[in-house]
Amino acid sequence: MQKRRIVVTSALPYANGDIHIGHLVEYLQTDFWVRFQKMRGHECVYVCADDTHGTPIMIRARKDGITPEQLIEASYARHTKDFADFEIAFDNYHTTHSPENRDFCATIFKRLEKNNAIFYKDVPQLYCPHDKMFLPDRFVRGTCPSCGAADQYGDSCEKCGATYAPADMKDARCAVCGKATPEVRNSEHFFFNLELFRNYLPAWLEKHVAPDVANKLLEWFAPDVKLLPWDISRDAPYFGFEIPDHPGKFFYVWLDAPVGYMASLLNWCLKNDKKFDRWWNNPDAELYHFIGKDIVRFHCLFWPAMLHASDFKGPDQVFVHGFLTVNGEKMSKSRGTFINARTYLEHLDPAYLRYYYACKINNTTDDVDLNLDDFALRVNSDLVGKITNLASRGAQMLHKSLDGRLGEMDAKGRALLQEFLARAETIAGHYEARRFSQVPVEVCHLADAANEYFDAAQPWKTVKTDPETTRKTLTSILNLFRILAIYLQPVLPRYAEKVAKLFGDEPYTWDSLQTTLENRAIAPYEYLAVRVLPEQVVAMVEKSRVAPPADKQAIEKPAPPLKTEIDIAAFGDIDLRVARVEKAEPVEGSDKLIRLAIDLGPLGKRTIFSGIRASYPDPSALDGSLIVIVANLKPRKMRFGLSEGMVLSAGFDHDKLRVIAPVGGGNPGDPVS
Ligand code: MSP
Ligand code: ZN
Repeated sequence: MQKRRIVVTSALPYANGDIHIGHLVEYLQTDFWVRFQKMRGHECVYVCADDTHGTPIMIRARKDGITPEQLIEASYARHTKDFADFEIAFDNYHTTHSPENRDFCATIFKRLEKNNAIFYKDVPQLYCPHDKMFLPDRFVRGTCPSCGAADQYGDSCEKCGATYAPADMKDARCAVCGKATPEVRNSEHFFFNLELFRNYLPAWLEKHVAPDVANKLLEWFAPDVKLLPWDISRDAPYFGFEIPDHPGKFFYVWLDAPVGYMASLLNWCLKNDKKFDRWWNNPDAELYHFIGKDIVRFHCLFWPAMLHASDFKGPDQVFVHGFLTVNGEKMSKSRGTFINARTYLEHLDPAYLRYYYACKINNTTDDVDLNLDDFALRVNSDLVGKITNLASRGAQMLHKSLDGRLGEMDAKGRALLQEFLARAETIAGHYEARRFSQVPVEVCHLADAANEYFDAAQPWKTVKTDPETTRKTLTSILNLFRILAIYLQPVLPRYAEKVAKLFGDEPYTWDSLQTTLENRAIAPYEYLAVRVLPEQVVAMVEKSRVAPPADKQAIEKPAPPLKTEIDIAAFGDIDLRVARVEKAEPVEGSDKLIRLAIDLGPLGKRTIFSGIRASYPDPSALDGSLIVIVANLKPRKMRFGLSEGMVLSAGFDHDKLRVIAPVGGGNPGDPVS
């Protein structure tokens, strides 16, 4: 096999926050892939760094009463510890606040200037006279010009979703000092002229990113719309690199951040006596970036254009993944599902999350859901119950009754081993193509076969009557298990290391599949993985739960005033009936409504339109169910037809409504009391 030279990166995490389980979707899948490449014998280098510059970091340090340098140093220690404890093995973890990065930024900027890719323009921007600094939109707060909600960001309203310019707010305030009214000032900014790459980029995208990602980005290239230039400078005070020969002007953090990939690689080269140009600019070396879908614009437009214009090689592929959801929803501090890496580690074994993410991650941009019940189930039933049990039962019995010595495999065991090995290239193909979720599927399938063999041979019975046959059974089982551990090593490195120790093996490579273990002693069995207890998961969620501050709660949920009082008679006039949904379907041309064909038993059949589409994206889920409707509502003519009644549903958000079901059943047409 041809030996490949591969450089791999993950996006650089911001230095002003802790690593959380959302980040880990990225760092873990990159680690799986890199470890796989290394097992295959390729030269593969995984580099990353902390992303240390920018206004938020500067302000955060100021608030904490420390220097930005102190802040980023503390983060570096925390991040590297979290990554190491999650078994994420960078070959180099650097910082963007480094001499290598400063030099690369200067080189690239000079080349861009020389190639006329930079222009200068005055830009009006909000300035705080008290803090003596220009304010990014996020650092301006005020009343939303659209809905009147107080204390909103300068660029968009969290309440109504409106976007606007900070200058449109009536009472804009500087969020840094919290009091001064910002004023508009002009300042010269440096722009990267993206329009120059109108022809280059579409061709680049077709080759270097997945088609769905490319197609989205290609929408920006409509023939008569100019590509917006990219503002790459910021005024002092700014924590970052000053632009060479332009005192008081700094590189915007997103300019120096991706350059940080190069800087980290160079730093690795310097430490390991390698030549940068053999790794980055070498057409025979491969370069891959793993990123989340939120930062595609930076990596698939600005970055390749910048590299192209400064004579550096661009990435061979940018691999884009989706976002983490927990129990089907965005990570949430109030629900306790915004879980920091460290909090996870205080409660659970990192191997579990590695295994579970491997079950869920593939090569698409779909979001990845961590369902906490499913997490415990998969770990317990598959990793522990199916896979690890082979080793724990096999090795413990071998030690207890057969002096810990392997014999030879029996015929059935050998046949199974061949079946296991026959899957090697398929599994390798899944890793290579980042279809990680297929790996546990394959492995569990094989583990099922091994367990069947074990159960049929009944070694716990034969051990008393026929020890040598039993030794053969256990030898087979342990060899089969060993193959599974090798297949899983990129996902479960520490686990695989313990397995290697059990068998007196060297750390596994893909070639380790070729050896079988017979007629030799094995080491005492040390635990590999134990079951997840539900209370550990509960404790982790509780630890992560942050109650929103009381005053914020009050602002966020102003109770709407009561409507006009009604008497019981008016309420009694509402005729609620049980109905059966015969068919529920989407309404063409409406993203809010669904059409329900309902059966009211003796009262006949009706059609009702209901605005619950967001809660029932697949309305057919309602087919056949019993619901409650207001049956005497005057029919209303709607754009899509006549609606003859109203479906009762309840829930706290428009996308979390649930239709009300008559508890205890009932028949269509029955009155509901
Ligand atoms: N600092 C920038 C990246 C600069 S790269 C030159 C940044 N940092 S980040 O800390 O916000 O995110 C780092 C990576 O983690 C990004 O690829 C981002 O998409 C990913 N994720 C952060 N939160 C995530 C989830 N909740 N789910 C999945 N990935 C997430 O962006
Ligand atoms: Zn201020």
